[in-house]
Amino acid sequence: MSEIKTYPDNPAVATAFAQYLCDFINGQAQEKITISLSGGSTPKLLFQVLAKDFADAVDWSKVHFFWGDERCVAPDDAESNYGECRALLLDTISIPPENVHRVLGENDPAGEAVRYGKEVRQHVSSGDDGVPAFDLMILGMGGDGHTASIFPHQMELLNSEKVCDVAVHPESGQRRVTMTGKVLNASKAVVFLITGGGKAEVLKTVVQRTGAAYPATHIQPAGSLTFFLDEAAAAQL
Ligand code: 6PG
Repeated sequence: MSEIKTYPDNPAVATAFAQYLCDFINGQAQEKITISLSGGSTPKLLFQVLAKDFADAVDWSKVHFFWGDERCVAPDDAESNYGECRALLLDTISIPPENVHRVLGENDPAGEAVRYGKEVRQHVSSGDDGVPAFDLMILGMGGDGHTASIFPHQMELLNSEKVCDVAVHPESGQRRVTMTGKVLNASKAVVFLITGGGKAEVLKTVVQRTGAAYPATHIQPAGSLTFFLDEAAAAQL
């Protein structure tokens, strides 16, 4: 069962989720909290709010950041999800460098998918099914219903036995390293951050689980599933 939280606009979503994230981290008893971040434009405001208002509200030394997907570009490329997060958040908060697990986007995609999968396994404990289970998986959704970098033309990535695999953006052809569907679904908590009216129609079918052609529909985690939405994205719910 999913929970839907709706806010007036993107800033309100960012502020509400920043507080949620802060409470989540502070509420965890364990000394190592594994969090997978999404990329794209939606989390930019979240990172800025965290840096501005929550930099000292969290013991970041407990947090280990990963990325659910990364573009196969250098970290200083404008397209880099890691580069975006570093500029907006990581350079501001006191998080040990060894706690930031970026995908080496500058590397060969196939080899990096294997390497990153090993790094995930090294730091993220697995459940009885042998799949690494993140404490928190933050995801976005594209207008085509993709999530992480699992696009509609590569639905097989939802059931891959690999931790990470190589994906290809359907329009640009840009290669990406993405976590696969089983890893996303193994997470103890999954949160979608989705804003903008352009996603409202697809989002309706994702939430109602009728949009089988959309990868986001198939994110039905063993743990909790929460949607943080603005009113525009939630307009058809
Ligand atoms: C990426 C993301 C991707 C993103 C969606 C939504 O690397 O682009 O991880 O899954 O979350 O495409 O992107 P926007 O937030 O830009 O709409």
